[in-house]
Amino acid sequence: MKWNEQDKSIQFTFGNYISTVYISKEGALVPLLKAPEGIKILSIFDQNTAPLFGDEHLRPLSLPLGEEHKSWESINQIMQRAVRENLARDSILAGIGGGIVCDMVAFAASIYMRGCQLRLIPTTLLAMVDASLGGKTGINFMGYKNMVGTFYPASSIHICLNTLVTLPENEFQTGLAEVIKTAMIGDKELFQLLIKEKERIFQRDTDLMEEIVKRCILVKGKIVEEDFKEKGLRAYLNLGHTFGHALEAVADFKGWSHGQAVAWGMAKAMDLGVRLGLTDPGYAEQVKNLLRDYRFRITVDNLAPEEIITAMSKDKKKLKDKLRFILQKDLNKTFISETDLSLVKEIIN
Ligand SMILES: NC(=O)c1ccc[n+]([C@@H]2O[C@H](COP(=O)([O-])OP(=O)(O)OC[C@H]3O[C@@H](n4cnc5c(N)ncnc54)[C@H](O)[C@@H]3O)[C@@H](O)[C@H]2O)c1
Repeated sequence: MKWNEQDKSIQFTFGNYISTVYISKEGALVPLLKAPEGIKILSIFDQNTAPLFGDEHLRPLSLPLGEEHKSWESINQIMQRAVRENLARDSILAGIGGGIVCDMVAFAASIYMRGCQLRLIPTTLLAMVDASLGGKTGINFMGYKNMVGTFYPASSIHICLNTLVTLPENEFQTGLAEVIKTAMIGDKELFQLLIKEKERIFQRDTDLMEEIVKRCILVKGKIVEEDFKEKGLRAYLNLGHTFGHALEAVADFKGWSHGQAVAWGMAKAMDLGVRLGLTDPGYAEQVKNLLRDYRFRITVDNLAPEEIITAMSKDKKKLKDKLRFILQKDLNKTFISETDLSLVKEIIN
C-alpha cells in the first residue's frame, strides 16, 4: 500500500489484483469515461447519475434505481450492450454511481468474457469510502442481499469529491455511518476529527472530505490487503451490520436507510459489549454521543426484541442459540464474539 501525494493516489494489492484509487477535489468526469486509443469503453450509470454526469456522445447505459434492480435483469442489460458493441476482454466497463451501480458493474466485468477491465467512479459517500474498494461484487437474489457475486477489484477507482455536491442529505448521512464505523475500527485520529469537525463535515467541506475519504480508504484497503477473501479480519468491517440488517428487515426497509440502521446497530454493539463486561463503558458512551451528534437514532420506540432476534436468526452465521457479533473492547480494539441470543434480547430497544 502506497500513498502517492503527487497524483493523489493509493495503490493496493488485493490477492492477485492491483487496485489504484485516485482522489480529486474537482475531477472532471468526462475524461474518465474515455478509453485509450483502440480500447472500447461502456459507461454505466443509474437513472439519477446519468443526467447529472452523463454525456450523450458516450452513449451510456442507464440502469433503473434501487435494490430491487440489483438483479440479473440489470446484468443482462449490461451483457447485451457489451456484446452488441463488440466489447472484448481488454475493453473497459466503467460504473459511475453509488454502491449499487459499482457492485453490479463490477460483477458484470468479472464475468464478461471471463473478466474484462473495470473502472469505478463512485458518486455516493458510501461508495467512495466502502463499496467501490475491495473487490466484493454482487447482485441480490431470491430476496437475499448480495447472494450472488464474485471477488473482482477494479483496476482503477476515481473519486471526484465534487460529485458529492448533489448527493441528497439522507444518502450523505448513510455514508457518514460507514465513516464513523471505519474510524471506530481503524483510525483514532479520524474518530477525533469526527468529534471536532461536525459542522464542516455537514457542510461537506471539500478539504475535510478529502482527508476523511483518504483515511477511510487507507483503513479499508489495509484490511482487505490482509484478508481479501474475508477469512477473518475483513469481517470487522461488518461492525453494527448484524443488528442493522435485522432492523432493516423488521422495518421492511421503510423509514431506515442502510446507514441509519447500521448506526443503530453500532450503538447496540456497544450496549451488548458493555452488557457482556467486555466493552469499556466510557468508550461506548462516547460512540453513542458521536452517533447522536450525527443525527442518528440510537434507540427505537416500540421495537419488539423477538422480531429482531428472529431476523438475526435467519443469518447464515447462526450457531445453535448463539450468533456471531463484531464487538469492541475500546477504540480500534475489535473482536468477534459468539453471543447467546437471550443476552442480545436484553439490550434491544
Ligand atoms: N462491495 C462492497 O464492498 C459494498 C460495501 C458497502 C455497500 N455495498 C453496497 O452498496 C449499495 C448501497 O450503495 P449506496 O448507498 O451508494 O446506494 P445507491 O447506489 O442506491 O445510491 C444512493 C442514491 O443516490 C443516487 N446518487 C448517487 N450518486 C449521486 C450524486 N452524486 N448525486 C445525486 N444522487 C446520487 C443514486 O442514484 C441512488 O438513488 C448496497 O447495495 C450495498 O450492498 C457494497
